[in-house]
Amino acid sequence: MTQTPRDHIVRFLEDCGITDLYLANQQAAASVPDVAPTPLTTRSTEPLISAPEPSDSVMTAREVARSAPNLTALHAAIAAFEGCPLKASATQAVFGAGPVGAPVMIVGEAPGRDEDREGVPFVGRSGQLLTKMLAAIGLARTDVYVTNVLPWRPPANRTPTPAEAATCEVFLRREIALVRPRLVVALGRPAMKTLFGIDASIMRERGRWRTYNDPDESFTADGLATFHPAYLLRTPAEKRRAWQDLLAIKAKLADTPGPA
Ligand code: URA
Repeated sequence: MTQTPRDHIVRFLEDCGITDLYLANQQAAASVPDVAPTPLTTRSTEPLISAPEPSDSVMTAREVARSAPNLTALHAAIAAFEGCPLKASATQAVFGAGPVGAPVMIVGEAPGRDEDREGVPFVGRSGQLLTKMLAAIGLARTDVYVTNVLPWRPPANRTPTPAEAATCEVFLRREIALVRPRLVVALGRPAMKTLFGIDASIMRERGRWRTYNDPDESFTADGLATFHPAYLLRTPAEKRRAWQDLLAIKAKLADTPGPA
């Protein structure tokens, strides 16, 4: 039998332990679920990579990023950038997708094989789950902006070196400032570390409201870290906690006024 988008959402909610759609609606309408109440520290004001001096690559990336007045220019600048070794093995730069001014910006880790081939973030299995998770709180993929900490797929999905991470972070921060979302959501520990400067267990740190703060770009937004969908595919029992985080995002959006 053909599955409709609604069937997929119902399936996701069932995986979250929500077997009654009326209950799901009640939960979605509830104010703030089981999460810590207010912003913690704003550690993101500190330099996230504690190199004594920025490398040449980081300096060049800063110049390039600063001179990009919009997302199209930034995408072109990243695609032409030669200062990051990750570029050599990637098929192409995978830039973020979504509207400028999207209320929510979702930040994953790095393109995988499917994303590297198609040039679009979160199109593989993790992306399909992400789409269902968003739909479960009434957000279409086209309502949100989706991107990654790294625009290039690392060879064999390896961890980026500190230098590669520092260079890519410059581009991500410019991208966030150009999108100007109200909420920034980190999927998984590497994104949480980059966005909020917290290098700790995602299990412990997820679901807490923080402040994303970029003094260079004079930009702040509410932020939250949650599980990466790839982790949820491997550990479906954690979908219940992911559902709490999704409800927190929904409640925060309802509470946070949009642009005038
Ligand atoms: N995982 C990510 O973190 N990003 C993608 O784009 C795809 C999978």
